[in-house]
Amino acid sequence: MARIGPALVRGAAACLLALPLLAPQARAAGPSAAPVPSGAPGSLQVLHWWTSDSERQAINVVVNQLARQDIQWRDISIPGGAGMGAGKVLKSMVLAGRAPEVTQLNGVIFGEWADLGLLLELDNVAVQGNWEKQMFPAVWSLLNNRGHVVAAPLGIHRVNTLFYNVAIFKRYGLTPPRTWEEFDKIVQLLRGTGIVPLAQSAEAWQIATLFENLALAESGPAYYRRLFVDMSPSAYLDARMLHILKRLRSLAGAMAQPVRERPWTEVARSMVNGEAAMFIMGDWAKGEFNAWGLTVDQQFGCAPVPGTGDYHLYSTDTLAMFADNYSHQAMQETLAQITMSAAVQSDYNKIKGSIPVLRAQDPHMDRCARDSWRAFSKGASYQAPSLVHRMATDETTKDAIVAEVQRFFIDRQITEEQTQKRLAAIARTLSRNRND
Ligand code: GAL
Repeated sequence: MARIGPALVRGAAACLLALPLLAPQARAAGPSAAPVPSGAPGSLQVLHWWTSDSERQAINVVVNQLARQDIQWRDISIPGGAGMGAGKVLKSMVLAGRAPEVTQLNGVIFGEWADLGLLLELDNVAVQGNWEKQMFPAVWSLLNNRGHVVAAPLGIHRVNTLFYNVAIFKRYGLTPPRTWEEFDKIVQLLRGTGIVPLAQSAEAWQIATLFENLALAESGPAYYRRLFVDMSPSAYLDARMLHILKRLRSLAGAMAQPVRERPWTEVARSMVNGEAAMFIMGDWAKGEFNAWGLTVDQQFGCAPVPGTGDYHLYSTDTLAMFADNYSHQAMQETLAQITMSAAVQSDYNKIKGSIPVLRAQDPHMDRCARDSWRAFSKGASYQAPSLVHRMATDETTKDAIVAEVQRFFIDRQITEEQTQKRLAAIARTLSRNRND
């Protein structure tokens, strides 16, 4: 698992340690997971970006379980897909000495906060709940920082999902494209029908979603990891990257012009209401379609993104707890226990569109979830950690790549070769392996 470079940690640490209100190195485990005394009033502030209909409904499963333990969930919700805004708010709150008690904090970024001693270690809860045995190894290793469990997992999203409008596909006799050549044929077939082949937003993270999908389709998880986990400059200078960028640019021809910046929920809506035929997005979009009363294989279908059928481009949702002065520890541990209960895993993920983090297959999953579970179960060589959703590398590197890709997509004056060189330069500057 990639970690941020020591220099970056030291820089951030120096900055954080200067703040009087923080308690750095407050990471030594406190007393073990004690149940909250019943009737004890208490609440937890939770920062997150689950603001759409299905996201709200899914998180209410956890909120309600927490309430049964007399713990109130106090919301700090920051709208903005993929947590682009929430990540920044979280950073400012921590720097101001006002870290929330709990945060949706996806991916390797745990390492950044945990290394600074800011996160509560959940080792006792993990041992008592037998987490290591129960969950997928990839998730277990993600939650671990230097031998300590520093977050509680909710579910696993599949980011390489292609959604399609069933009525449109039926009307034109289409089947879900398994390759990009098949995709191109559909685009041609829909020409002149008034239907937009591919729904898309110009938001940086949504363009980068296409980019990471194309990277996976191009040459599988090994090359993908060289790009986004190892940050290998030579991988960026490879002819395959040129091909990925050309493909990304050519996809513009399948989209309504100009491509506008729209929240993912709006883009999702344009696919199910028949304006567009297809939509590439994480399977939280499935949760949203369900919340709108639509059913898989009736109004919308799901398939792997072309060229990625064997693979799983994943993003896990997790909650991390800030240690502060340990006054919330018992409640935080209760929340961690709740997230891993089999019933909560099943109910939450069914609404959210994701799959449980548990190795045992949940019998209540729909077809898309079963496909996702099968692909993820095949193990590490079939899994690719999402760059956009912070599974692959640290926040700074991720933001730099995402911004570069958006610039390339929007400004047609920038050539593929220029972008390739700029991405390689980012990798050279920020990667841990400077000799590559
Ligand atoms: C992801 C997150 C999902 C979903 C999505 C859209 O980062 O893992 O739970 O909320 O963003 O905002």
